[in-house]
Amino acid sequence: MRILSIETSCDDTGITIMEVKGGIKKPSFKILANVSNSQIKIHAPYGGVYPMLAKREHIKNLPILLEEVFKISQGRPLRIQKGPTLRNLGINLIAVTYGPGLEPALWSGIIFAKELAKKWKISLIPVNHMEGHILSVFGKPKGKFTIPKINFPVLSLLVSGGHTELILFKNWMQYKIIGETLDDAAGEAFDKVARMMNLPYPGGPQISKLAEKERNCGEGRPLGIQKGPTFSSFVLPRPILHSKNFDFSFSGLKTAVLYLIKKIGTLDEKTKAKIALEFENAVVDVLIHKTIKAKEKYKVKTIIVGGGVACNKHLQREMKKAMGKNIALLFPENKLTGDNSIMIGMAGYLNYIKNNKKTRKTFNIKAKGNLRLK
Ligand code: KG4
Ligand code: ZN
Repeated sequence: MRILSIETSCDDTGITIMEVKGGIKKPSFKILANVSNSQIKIHAPYGGVYPMLAKREHIKNLPILLEEVFKISQGRPLRIQKGPTLRNLGINLIAVTYGPGLEPALWSGIIFAKELAKKWKISLIPVNHMEGHILSVFGKPKGKFTIPKINFPVLSLLVSGGHTELILFKNWMQYKIIGETLDDAAGEAFDKVARMMNLPYPGGPQISKLAEKERNCGEGRPLGIQKGPTFSSFVLPRPILHSKNFDFSFSGLKTAVLYLIKKIGTLDEKTKAKIALEFENAVVDVLIHKTIKAKEKYKVKTIIVGGGVACNKHLQREMKKAMGKNIALLFPENKLTGDNSIMIGMAGYLNYIKNNKKTRKTFNIKAKGNLRLK
C-alpha cells in the first residue's frame, strides 16, 4: 500500500510518499518521494519558534509540497491543480502528526490531511511525533529500508527542542515514560544558552560546533581548572545527576550559564567556545548518566537515541563509549534526527496494522500539544 505522511508539529513542513508492506513482523518501506521546508530563517530573528508564524508558513507550504511529492513520485510534472483538489494518485492512507508539538502548527497539518482524506475517500491515521522519533533510527532519507528484529527491552532517549524523555518498552507501541525533564528540554537549553551568547537560532548546532572546535584544540579541559583574568574558576553544574529517579532538569544549568556570563561581562570568541564546551559536557554527562542507570535497572538490550539533539557528535561518541559492546546502540542518520515526515509514515503504518487497519473517524482527530507516549 501507499502512504502519504505529513509532519507540521514545529517549524518543519514535511510530506512523504512511501510504499509499505510486510505488516508488524517484517515492515518494509520504500520512499517514493520526500520533500520538506524548514522555517529556520523565518523564526531566527525571534530566537525561537513563533507558533502563529509557523502555522501560517505550514498552510502556505503544504499545497506546494504536495504538488512536489506527487511530481517526484510520478516522475512527471502534474497538471497544475490548486491545493487539496489534487487528484489522488494511488495513495491508500494518510498519516499525520497530531501531537505533541505547537497546537497551531499541528492543526495546519491535521486540517490539510483531513481535507485530502475526505476528498480522496481514504483513511487518516493520527501519529504521535515521539513514536516517529523512536522509529527514525531505522529510516533512510531515500530508497528502501526495513525495521529489523531487535532485542527487547528497549530504552529510548528522546532529546529534542521540546522533549527530554527516557522511554522503556518491551514491544512496539507499548511505551512507558520512566523519566523526563522537569523544566527545559535539552535542545531548548542549547537554544537558550546560544541566545545568551548572541549565537543564531537554532543554538544546538552552533554550541556544538564551538564546543567541538574547543575540545579538539588541545585546551579542551574543563573550565574549572583554568585561571583566567576575568574569572578564577568554574565548573557548570550537572543538575539532579544523583537523584534516585530518571528525571532531568536543565533550567538550573541554563541559569548557571547566565550568571557566569554576567560575571564575565563581555564575551570574546574564545570564552564563548569554552562556555559552549563546558555546557555541552554538562548536558551530555547528565543524559548519559541517567541512561546508564535506567539501562542497568531494566536490563535493557537495545538503546535508541532520537530527536534533534541526537545528531550531537559529543553525545554520540560518549554514548558509544559508555554503553560498551553488549548493547545495541542505535542513532538515526543525521538527516533524520530532526523533524521529518518519513518517521511519521513509518509510525503511521505500524499503528494502522496494529489497529487491524481500522482508523478513527477522520473528523475526530484533534491536535494534542501535550500528547504523551503510552
Ligand atoms: O527534533 P527537533 O528537530 O525538533 C523538535 O521536535 O523539537 O529538535 C530540534 C532541537 C533544537 O533545540 C536544536 O537546537 C537541537 O535539536 N539540535 C542540537 C543539535 N542539532 C540540533 N542540539 C545539540 N547539538 C546539535 N548538534
Ligand atoms: Zn521532534
